[in-house]
Amino acid sequence: MIDAEGTVLAGRYQLVERSGQGGMATVWRAVTRGAAGFIRPVAVKRILGGLSHQPEFVQMFVEEARVGATLDHPNVVQIHDFGRDVLDNYYLVMEWVEGVDLGRWSQSYEAAGWHAPWHLTAAIGIESLRGLHAAHTRADPYGNPAPTFHRDVTPGNVLIGLNGIVKIADFGLARAMDRARITRPEMVKGKTGYVAPEMLDDGLEASAQSDMFSLGVVLWEVLASRPLFRAAHDLDSLRNVIKCEVPSLAEIRPDLPPALVGTIERALRRDPRERFGSAREMLLELARVLRRVAEPTDAAPLGQSVALARERLGMPPRDLPPEELVPLEGARWLTPEDGLDREELAIPLIPGRRRE
Ligand SMILES: Nc1ncnc2c1ncn2[C@@H]1O[C@H](COP(=O)(O)OP(=O)(O)O)[C@@H](O)[C@H]1O
Ligand SMILES: [Mg+2]
Repeated sequence: MIDAEGTVLAGRYQLVERSGQGGMATVWRAVTRGAAGFIRPVAVKRILGGLSHQPEFVQMFVEEARVGATLDHPNVVQIHDFGRDVLDNYYLVMEWVEGVDLGRWSQSYEAAGWHAPWHLTAAIGIESLRGLHAAHTRADPYGNPAPTFHRDVTPGNVLIGLNGIVKIADFGLARAMDRARITRPEMVKGKTGYVAPEMLDDGLEASAQSDMFSLGVVLWEVLASRPLFRAAHDLDSLRNVIKCEVPSLAEIRPDLPPALVGTIERALRRDPRERFGSAREMLLELARVLRRVAEPTDAAPLGQSVALARERLGMPPRDLPPEELVPLEGARWLTPEDGLDREELAIPLIPGRRRE
């Protein structure tokens, strides 16, 4: 019962509900409990069995988790902890973002037959770029430049909270995943439509420009309500990326300001040298577009759009408030004092009443 609701890891992270399943990991909404009733929602990302037994993968994963944990920025999902369960599978404990990912946010408009509002999309782009830029300009504790690149900017890795705060998840994890001997093709599924072309055919390393390209694809797709390079088969997606033919966004969305279209198209140039010099340059360009817009694009309308997206998607108004989860009668919460050897214990949960 190591991957079931109620499982407690390391004596303090209790899995509440499976929130998402990627190719190589499962994301759980979980709670961490401390003394005196202290409770905090967290996300627990568990690396699927098998990968944790590949030394090269593990080494890279540990390294990336370590680097990720030093990234401290409001637009980057904070990594709290890193551990290994009794079956030797690794997991990351991260800040929980209560809201939706950008893929679902965008789908919620598509499902209603609308295009996503471009001013909010641009605002999400700006916030994402703030997080990316912080990582690109990261310094080590001695002040030496130690940039880190995301490598996996996809709609699922841009999280928008009900509070209207945008956060980039899974920094650098893609690097570890690349190193893993990928034996199951579904592991990379869906990601291939976002990788920068120079990383595919010129063998170039990830860079600020490759992250910007990926974000360009994401923003293009949100605005166009359709995939850009993504195809049913990964090989076709890769071919599309390498060709890098970008249909005119201005034709699909005649309502967009030309400066917004121009900014996204510049991020999508085939030659990385023709893109923006830095994520900050790109965000300043997007900010310039929004300066001419009367409608507010701060956290309040963004948060409201997330609440509406959840409604359209049939999601509950909020995720279950963890303080309303109670252990089964007779059971008690495990505390850190219970020790690591108890972590395979699963305590059944009774969901509390949903807050209206
Ligand atoms: N820190 C988090 N807070 C809230 N939800 C998250 C968090 N991390 C991931 N998720 C959700 O779980 C889903 C699966 O995550 P993941 O395994 O990284 O796959 P992917 O990024 O490919 O979608 C995400 O799409 C997102 O909706
Ligand atoms: Mg992710």
